[in-house]
Amino acid sequence: MFDSVTHKIQLQSYFDGIGFERWSAIYNGQAKLSHIRRTVREGHELMLNQAASWLLESRTSGTLLDAGCGTGLFSLMMAQRGFKVTAVDIAPRMVEAAQTTAEQIGLADRIRFTQGDIESVSGRFDAVVCFDVLVHYPRESFERLCATLAGQCDGPFIFTYAAYNRFLASLHWLGGWFPKNHRRAEIQMMPDSVVAGALAVAGMRVRRTVNINHGFYHVRLLEAARD
Ligand SMILES: C[S@@+](CC[C@H](N)C(=O)[O-])C[C@H]1O[C@@H](n2cnc3c(N)ncnc32)[C@H](O)[C@@H]1O
Repeated sequence: MFDSVTHKIQLQSYFDGIGFERWSAIYNGQAKLSHIRRTVREGHELMLNQAASWLLESRTSGTLLDAGCGTGLFSLMMAQRGFKVTAVDIAPRMVEAAQTTAEQIGLADRIRFTQGDIESVSGRFDAVVCFDVLVHYPRESFERLCATLAGQCDGPFIFTYAAYNRFLASLHWLGGWFPKNHRRAEIQMMPDSVVAGALAVAGMRVRRTVNINHGFYHVRLLEAARD
C-alpha cells in the first residue's frame, strides 16, 4: 500500500542529496551539462518564462507563494518584479542555495524562505506557483497537495503536472530497468480530470494550459483561477 509519509521523506532525501547536485546544476545557467540535461534546462526556462508572463498578466505585485521553490529561480524573478514572496522547500540545501543567491543579488528582504513541507504552509496569497513538484506525487497525494495550495490562493494558481504522453510513458518504463540507486525521483502522470477535480474542491477552475515539450523536458503548465 502507498505510504505518503515515507514517500515524502524519500523525496526530501533525494532533493537534499543527489537530486540537489543534479537539479542545482540544471538550474544554474553556468554549469556544464550533457545534451540531455541542457534540453531540460532550456525547457524549464521556457516554462518559467511562460508562467511569468501569465502571472504578470493577472497581477504585477502582491503576495506570492512559491511552493517547492528549489534554488529559487522563480522567487527571485518575481521578487525582482515587486512581489512579496514566500519561498518554501522541503530540502534544506535547496532553501540554503536560494537564500544565498537572494542575499548575493540584494533581494533577500523581499523573500521569506522556509524549509518545510508545502502541506504545512499557512496563510493566504494573491498568487501561488508550484513548478515541477506535483509531478512527483501519485494521485492520492497529488489531489491533497493540489487542493491545499489552491485553497490558499486568491488569484492565479499556476503549476506544472505530468499529463499522460507516450514519450513520457516510455521513459517511465525505461526508468524501471535502471538499478534503484541510479534512478531519479519518479514522474507520476496525472489525468486531466483528476487535476480539474482537485481544483474544483477548492473552488478553482482551469483557465488555460500549455504543453511545454522541449527535448527531455515535458510538462503541462496550467493556470487556475477562482470561479
Ligand atoms: C524539480 S525541483 C523544482 C524546483 C523549482 N520549483 C523550479 O521549478 O525551479 C522540485 C522541488 O520540490 C521540492 N519538494 C518536493 N516535495 C515537496 C514538499 N512536499 N514540500 C516542499 N517542497 C517539496 C523538492 O525539494 C525540490 O526542490
